[in-house]
Amino acid sequence: MALKIAVSGKGGVGKTTVAGILARLYGREGKEVLVLDADPASNLASAIGVPKEIREKIVPISRMLDLIEERTGVRPGSSYGGVFTINPKVDDITAKYAVEGKDGVKLLVLGTINKGGGGCFCPESALLKNLIRHLVLQKNQYLIMDMEAGLEHLGRASSRNMDVMLVVVEPGMRSLETACKIKELANQIGIQRIMAVLNKASSRSEKDVVEETLKKSGLPLAATIPFNRMLIEADLKGISPLDVEGTEDVVSAVQELKKELEKERATSQ
Ligand SMILES: Nc1ncnc2c1ncn2[C@@H]1O[C@H](COP(=O)(O)OP(=O)(O)OP(=O)(O)O)[C@@H](O)[C@H]1O
Ligand SMILES: [Mg+2]
Repeated sequence: MALKIAVSGKGGVGKTTVAGILARLYGREGKEVLVLDADPASNLASAIGVPKEIREKIVPISRMLDLIEERTGVRPGSSYGGVFTINPKVDDITAKYAVEGKDGVKLLVLGTINKGGGGCFCPESALLKNLIRHLVLQKNQYLIMDMEAGLEHLGRASSRNMDVMLVVVEPGMRSLETACKIKELANQIGIQRIMAVLNKASSRSEKDVVEETLKKSGLPLAATIPFNRMLIEADLKGISPLDVEGTEDVVSAVQELKKELEKERATSQ
């Protein structure tokens, strides 16, 4: 079975870092991986090792007005008075517009999707919804969506249709509060499987406190990733965390996360 994983959490907790490492580790195993950058301030491309020259040329899907117009019959920003096809065709979008990072990971940058979910029939939203619904069709494919910080996106069509929602937290009450709210909202929109990932942990006692707090909200802790300053260095240089020395502890923690996700995949079959 394919697995669609959303990565959410408060700003700066490490969503992009976790999504990028996870994607490359699946890619190294020979799995087909597509990552979606759903953060308007996107930087997932560098986290999966897309070279700078290519990064600079990426056009987000939301900015491809012609594409949206072609698929939906409406040009974004125009009135919706005309004929509007609610089921834009999406089969060839990955082949045409994805860029490739390291370990064979493919990336689609979504850009800014303005309108809310629910009853929104704006063209971008229809395109995105269909994209996510149909992208992962083949066995053993993985879709990983790096989400915008906070809660707003949970009202959007893009969050539905996910099999698992990972909520990244760091040691601190604010990110834990955000995580609990994300859990509630995700449950409301029908995502049942939600797991927390503690990132930037510096001690066992931090992990224990966080795990205890999460437990009270019914959020299982799937993995604990240590604080490692090499990740900050990698980020500053715009390179993938897997391409700097000294990140073995982080990588093995993400391997643990992968194992937990495999369990989820097994039970969903
Ligand atoms: N385990 C870690 N140890 C140390 N630094 C980390 C760790 N994980 C992430 N970082 C650093 O924290 C910063 C934020 O990480 P990242 O960009 O992945 O977070 P984010 O949740 O995607 O942020 P945003 O909300 O802005 O999208 C980066 O500089 C990153 O290198
Ligand atoms: Mg990010």
